[in-house]
Amino acid sequence: MSATTASTGTTMEKGPAAFFKTRLGSFLAVVPLGLWTANHLWNNLASLRGGAAWEAAVTHHSSPFAEALGAIIALAPLLLHTVWGLARLFMWRPNVGSYSYYGNVKFILQRLSAVGVLLFLAAHIYLAWIKPHVFEGHGEEFEDIAKEMFTSADGPTLIVYLLGTLGVSYHLGNGLQTWAMGWGLVGSREAVKKFEWISITSFLLLLAMSWGAIYGLYTGGREIVAKEKAAAAAPAH
Ligand code: HEM
Repeated sequence: MSATTASTGTTMEKGPAAFFKTRLGSFLAVVPLGLWTANHLWNNLASLRGGAAWEAAVTHHSSPFAEALGAIIALAPLLLHTVWGLARLFMWRPNVGSYSYYGNVKFILQRLSAVGVLLFLAAHIYLAWIKPHVFEGHGEEFEDIAKEMFTSADGPTLIVYLLGTLGVSYHLGNGLQTWAMGWGLVGSREAVKKFEWISITSFLLLLAMSWGAIYGLYTGGREIVAKEKAAAAAPAH
């Protein structure tokens, strides 16, 4: 994106080390991290098939080793991309005069969504992964997350998930286009325009998976709460 919309200023950095850092941060964003994110959202869609299916798809692992490996594969590229992204976040100047308004808006949205994604992922990783594992001694349970999604008892959970996943979907969908440009997969103006459709479709698919999964958790939570209320209201024998 920097080539056609706004300057990141990162061209100031020179030399093989700077080139390697730039390439690595960009590569990690799509190949492990983007693919992992799409797969994670797809797995979460199992919430539409109920608690057992969701736990089998998302939180059950064949062994503690497989679980640890999965966590490293997800977190290491995220951490490296975040360090790369934070450095680039502040190295830019909008270029509305020279480049298209639309392109500049996308450039700024990519950075704003990065900040939202950072805050969302910090909360999500802590609440859905670190807290249950470290303080409760087990993985996240469907009942807990589904009830929380429905009741938002511990904070604005539903709205945070809806907005957080909107940010992730935009950031990854739009990032695919700048990534393809950066790696020379699309060069001409026409190719970039055509790729725009791949980018928009990816954004919509990621958003549909995210919100579909949230809907599954929300309705699952609604059922659990209704059952609990019915059980509490039933006369004791
Ligand atoms: C699920 C997590 C994330 C995914 C899948 C992801 C994916 C991507 C992708 C595909 C790109 C485009 C790369 C390129 O143009 O070469 C990108 C760019 C960027 N990412 Fe992320 N990202 C994630 C999280 C974050 C976080 C937490 C930050 C930290 C603030 C961040 C900051 C940035 C920035 C600033 C850019 C724009 C770089 C530029 O255009 O110069 N990203 N991201």
